[in-house]
Amino acid sequence: MKNSYLLCIAHRGAMGHEPENTLASVRKALALGALCIEVDTYYVDKRLVIFHDDRLERTTNGTGYIYEQSFDYLRKLDAGNGQQIPTLEEVSAMINAQTCLNIELKGENTAEPVAELLADMIDNGWDKASFLVSSFRHHELLKIKKLVPDINIGALIHGLPVDNAKFAKDLDAFSVHPSLECIDQRFIDDAHARCLRVYVYGVNHVEDIARMQKIGADGVFTNFPERVLKNYSQGDFTTKWCDR
Ligand code: G3P
Ligand code: MG
Repeated sequence: MKNSYLLCIAHRGAMGHEPENTLASVRKALALGALCIEVDTYYVDKRLVIFHDDRLERTTNGTGYIYEQSFDYLRKLDAGNGQQIPTLEEVSAMINAQTCLNIELKGENTAEPVAELLADMIDNGWDKASFLVSSFRHHELLKIKKLVPDINIGALIHGLPVDNAKFAKDLDAFSVHPSLECIDQRFIDDAHARCLRVYVYGVNHVEDIARMQKIGADGVFTNFPERVLKNYSQGDFTTKWCDR
């Protein structure tokens, strides 16, 4: 029986099963039933491409910094199992408003082109609440919030700040995204007291998934969506912590 809630956010698609940040990975996350899918995006050669690293070597047969390449070069690369590096438009078309889409802004100057695309999609019937834009680059989040008022933003962090989640509240974030390595109960309680959702990244083992739910996390980013979906109920990715 699934009686406790923990949002499953499929990390880079379902990267435990298919090459990360590819259409195959997004397709797998959808097939597994994830209600929220995270992808990373860079703005390269005037295109929004879905990619995680700043260099190409780890996940493709290419070389060099991603932001120094042409779009044509990137599209010729093998991103794993013959998959191409997709664009954000292609990922959005595949998701087709069926799930929440978490767009993580990776490089500089991603906020403006992402804002433009979001405005377009919202004009075309996408629910604004089905987007969550996140980044470790908090300046980019401020920019996107200005460009797309009321868009939900998620503040990513590597460590735990001394004043806990205050910085995220100051950003007017919807959620704060700490890593599994750092998260503790005090931080989660502080975030909730500030009406912020807490989504923890790097949560792949079943015992960690269970521990995150126990200490009050609202969701986890996972490479294996089925491990969360099997045991926890889903559904609410738009309601603020205080309005739940
Ligand atoms: O957004 C959660 C997670 O993706 C953040 O870290 O490095 O996997 O993009 P990273
Ligand atoms: Mg990411």
